[in-house]
Amino acid sequence: MLLKILGAAAGGGLPQWNCGCPGCQAAREGQISPLTQSSIAVRAQAGPWLLVNASPDVRSQLERLRERGAPMRSSAIAGVLLTDAEIDHTAGLMILRESEQPLEVYSPATVKQALTEGFPVLRTLTNYCGVNWTALEPGTTSRIFGLTVEAFSLSKKPPKYEQVEPDRDWAIGLTFREDTGGVLTYAPVLSELTNSLRERFEASDCILVDGTFWRNDELQRLGISGRTALEMGHLPLGGSDGSLQQLKMMPPRTVLTHINNTNPIHLPDSEERHSVTAAGIEVGYDGLTIEL
Ligand code: MLT
Ligand code: MN
Ligand code: ZN
Repeated sequence: MLLKILGAAAGGGLPQWNCGCPGCQAAREGQISPLTQSSIAVRAQAGPWLLVNASPDVRSQLERLRERGAPMRSSAIAGVLLTDAEIDHTAGLMILRESEQPLEVYSPATVKQALTEGFPVLRTLTNYCGVNWTALEPGTTSRIFGLTVEAFSLSKKPPKYEQVEPDRDWAIGLTFREDTGGVLTYAPVLSELTNSLRERFEASDCILVDGTFWRNDELQRLGISGRTALEMGHLPLGGSDGSLQQLKMMPPRTVLTHINNTNPIHLPDSEERHSVTAAGIEVGYDGLTIEL
């Protein structure tokens, strides 16, 4: 199996257009590399690429996958898997409207509904390329282009534009397996580390995990928002009850992704970055390719 991080930043990217936090400033001044928004590509050794989440930066991200000598009109991806209906994971669907074929989209039914009503990108695409939708519900296993894909529940938090009770599965994680070996678990949203998630992580060769925030009050301290990391559905990395303390005990190769621009781990000299590295955990970046 091959996986490539196409975008390692959370919504907004690094730098974010309206932000002057230390990470955004460092990226703007060329001290650290800019990062595009949350997305990965995965494929079986002999299979086509699958896009997992369609970020607003999908246009430049797909350039990384396009092969030299590809036919004049052709797509580098065979399908799009969506882990949730957040804008940073779905706005890119609109960019894919030039597709010659209907887009093959896989997601939970909640996500399909949100993308048909609250943020009706799937409805809009009907009159462009069209969409073939396939359900990807938590607790089910699907065979998708040479990979066995297991969906599991990650969060019941609906996207902000859907003002509904948090009583359904709004975000899933995905475990990819190839028959020849190699197990990848992708969990870009982590609100708590339950025992079943811990077991799933430990049974994987590589995990790509939510690295959104360092502190629970990160946005409050910067005067950006009153919402805490946990209120936004993201378990912060730092602190004695943060995800880093738990992740560092786990055997698989662990790479952080969906990293918000405010997270001090972007800064190579920060104490926070040093603790991540000392824990044997990697900070994801655009273009990072892993073979399993
Ligand atoms: C999230 O990851 O919590 C969301 O994408 C936040 C947002 O609305 O941008
Ligand atoms: Mn997000
Ligand atoms: Zn910023």
